[in-house]
Parts: sequence; structure tokens; C-alpha cells
Amino acid sequence: MKISSLSPIGIFDSGIGGLLIAKEIKIQMPNEYFIYFGDTINMPYGEKSKEFIIENSTKIASFLYEKKCKALVIACNSIASNALDFIYKKFHNKILIFNVIDPIVKNKILLSSKRIGIIATPATIRSNFYIKKIKKYYQHLDIVQISAALLAPMVEKGLKIKKNIIGNYLNHFKSIDTLLLACTHYLFLRKEIDNFYNGKVHLIDIQKIVVKEIRKKLYEEKLLCFISNKKGKDPIFYTSNLIPTFFEKKVRIFFGEKVFIKTHVFNFS
Ligand code: DGL
Repeated sequence: MKISSLSPIGIFDSGIGGLLIAKEIKIQMPNEYFIYFGDTINMPYGEKSKEFIIENSTKIASFLYEKKCKALVIACNSIASNALDFIYKKFHNKILIFNVIDPIVKNKILLSSKRIGIIATPATIRSNFYIKKIKKYYQHLDIVQISAALLAPMVEKGLKIKKNIIGNYLNHFKSIDTLLLACTHYLFLRKEIDNFYNGKVHLIDIQKIVVKEIRKKLYEEKLLCFISNKKGKDPIFYTSNLIPTFFEKKVRIFFGEKVFIKTHVFNFS
């Protein structure tokens, strides 16, 4: 399949979490055209089994691959931590594959931390993916991780999350200097979390670091688009839900009224 710098970037998540990654792609790489898939009917992935996550995310990756994307961005920690090896095996010699975990754990930013907290979905925590990766690069780090089952589904629905719900989770972290928001949905709660800590705990800038890495690699592979997309293609957003949800609303807020939102339903087993 012929891909070039003009081909789209395929981004996927269970829902709105990856929209912040897509938004950052627009900021750092305004010429890029992308196709986004939010598997909103199956959200939350954080409560699904590893097998379910592997099967569904592989179907989404195949769907984006068929759309002739030049790269896949797994904008979901639950997918990356449970299915990355499978997606990688299937696609790595055909297409570039990015995820939201590797650029963070390899980033020198963690060198200056002593004790970090990781807040993530149950599926991500269960996988132990972060611990294994971080320990490989930074033996000195103390790591505390907690799973926050309630947060992603609430963010996905656009619900206002009360301070005490966030506080109940964050109170489990004692004396951390850095906190990793290890679910892309939690990136929407950055301000509330920062307020909880009065700015005293470092929150890693996930979107910026991840997208910088994508840009660098696309450039190295001569796949970065330099042709202005000003009058070019608007991104396309796919959702697996037949009924409109908060996802559509958020897409329009972020990317404008004009963008295409289409429904695609897979035959999931
Ligand atoms: N946004 C996803 C993540 O980064 C998953 C949220 C969910 O579907 O549970 O983990």
C-alpha cells in the first residue's frame, strides 16, 4: 500500500481521551490530516479484559490501516498497555506505530523525580506495563499506582466531577513529587488535579511530549507533511455509537462545526 507524507494519521481511543492528542497534533503539525476513531459504544476499555482490548483495538487499527494511514497513534493507555505487542506485531512493518506510554517513560523528565504516582484505569494498572517500563529505565524511582475506575466514564459523559471524588483517589498518593495522568481521559482533569496539589506536584505534559515524538519520527521517516493544509482536508471522526453522545459535542468544540463525524459499527464478537 502506497503511503506518503500526504497520507492521514490514524488516531484511536475508546472515546474522547485521544481528542487531546489529536488537538496537540493540530498545534504541532498543522499540515497533517488525520482520521480519528473513538470506540464509544465499548467505552470504558479500562474495565474490559485483556482479550477484549486486544480483539477490538486490532479491528480499529486494521480499519485505520485500510484507510491508508501513514501512522497509527494509540491514544489510549488501556489499549497500549494491554495490546501494544499485538498491534505492533501485526502492523509494524507496514506502518508507523505510536502510543502514549513509551515517549513518557523514555523521557528524561522522570530523571529528576524521586517518587511518582501513576493514576490509570483498572486495565492499565492490572497490566503492570508502566512499572515494568519505568523500572527498566529508572531504578531509583519509587512508584505508587492506583486505579480510578470512575473517572474516565464520567469524563466521557461530560459530567462535572466533584472535588471530593478526585480527592478520594489522589489522597492515596503520599509525598509524590510527580504524577502521571496515565489515561488520556484524565488529561481533561489536569486543572482540577493541579488545584488539588496547589501546583506543588509536577504533572507531566503528556500530549506535548507524545506529539513531539510523533513529529520527530515522521520527519526522520520523511513522512511529515510540509504542504499547507489550510484549505485542505478536515479531519474525519468515527464513532462506534449509533446514538449521538458527548463525543460528538466535544469533537465540534475542538475541531469546528464542519468536521465529519461518521458512525462505524464493527462486528465485535
Ligand atoms: N482513554 C483511555 C486510556 O487512556 C481509556 C478510558 C476507558 O475507556 O476506560 O486509558
